[in-house]
Amino acid sequence: MTVVLHTIDEARAFVAEARSRGQLGLVPTMGALHDGHLSLVRLVAERVETVVVSIFVNPMQFGPNEDLERYPRTFDDDLAKLEASGVAAVFAPSAAEMYPRGLGQTRVVAGPAGSILEGERRPGHFDGVLTVVAKLFGIVRPDIAVFGRKDAQQLHLIERMADDLDLGIEILGAPILRADDGVALSSRNVFLAPDERAAARSLPRALEAAAEAGARGGRSAALAAGRAVLDGEPLVTLDYLEIVDPDDFAPVDDTRRGTVLVLVAARVGATRLIDNTSVDLD
Ligand code: PAJ
Repeated sequence: MTVVLHTIDEARAFVAEARSRGQLGLVPTMGALHDGHLSLVRLVAERVETVVVSIFVNPMQFGPNEDLERYPRTFDDDLAKLEASGVAAVFAPSAAEMYPRGLGQTRVVAGPAGSILEGERRPGHFDGVLTVVAKLFGIVRPDIAVFGRKDAQQLHLIERMADDLDLGIEILGAPILRADDGVALSSRNVFLAPDERAAARSLPRALEAAAEAGARGGRSAALAAGRAVLDGEPLVTLDYLEIVDPDDFAPVDDTRRGTVLVLVAARVGATRLIDNTSVDLD
């Protein structure tokens, strides 16, 4: 049975008891769970005795014109999936429980890597992510927490926060889970109409094209090949296609060789999608 915890006090009591049975793993999510989320659960379950999944659509990380109200909420389905995955507890607090004094209080500031790429397009987004993750860490005090490489910049910033603030929590990165057509699984994919869903394939195709071209011709060849794929897709509006150093997310120049990350963000119809892949530049 998966225990459902709604309050911070309930979560702390559960965790205090679970800790006597061994190590604790945390998988933070916003719900609308898919196989990508469940792959995170499986990954951390190999390492710990007790897995806790949090489900909280965090208002602090949404901008005023973003999809907070529209974000899919499917708690009963989520719970059934977590039961089937052997998760010990779900922490699903209300916004009032997490932010009793409102959002205008103490925050974690993401630093320079938090204001480029996604952070540039979504001002304050990563401060909101880091603040809620820090709170979840404080409530659950996990030994290990797992995050997906699908949100590569988020994973990087959380690793940085854990290190910079000496949180003593191991951060695990999980591989991107994709549908058969290559599209990365995402809770927002439910918003895609069938023709948009077909157009969304151009994101992983662009990343593949960039990887192939980059292996032969370096950074600028990779970017040109990726852009060419996206330009050919009328339903897709490119937001950015960038190549960064995986260690600090700084943009790389054309002389760069070795392993880098290619990141893409685009709107497909009204839905904003992100994806990325690791590439060896020659
Ligand atoms: P959410 O979008 O629900 O994602 C929860 C976790 O699942 C994140 O670590 C994300 O990277 C991972 N994930 C999503 N799709 C994935 C896929 N296709 N393959 C592998 N992992 C995938 O990210 C958030 O929520 C929030 O920002 C959160 C960290 C919970 C803070 O509110």
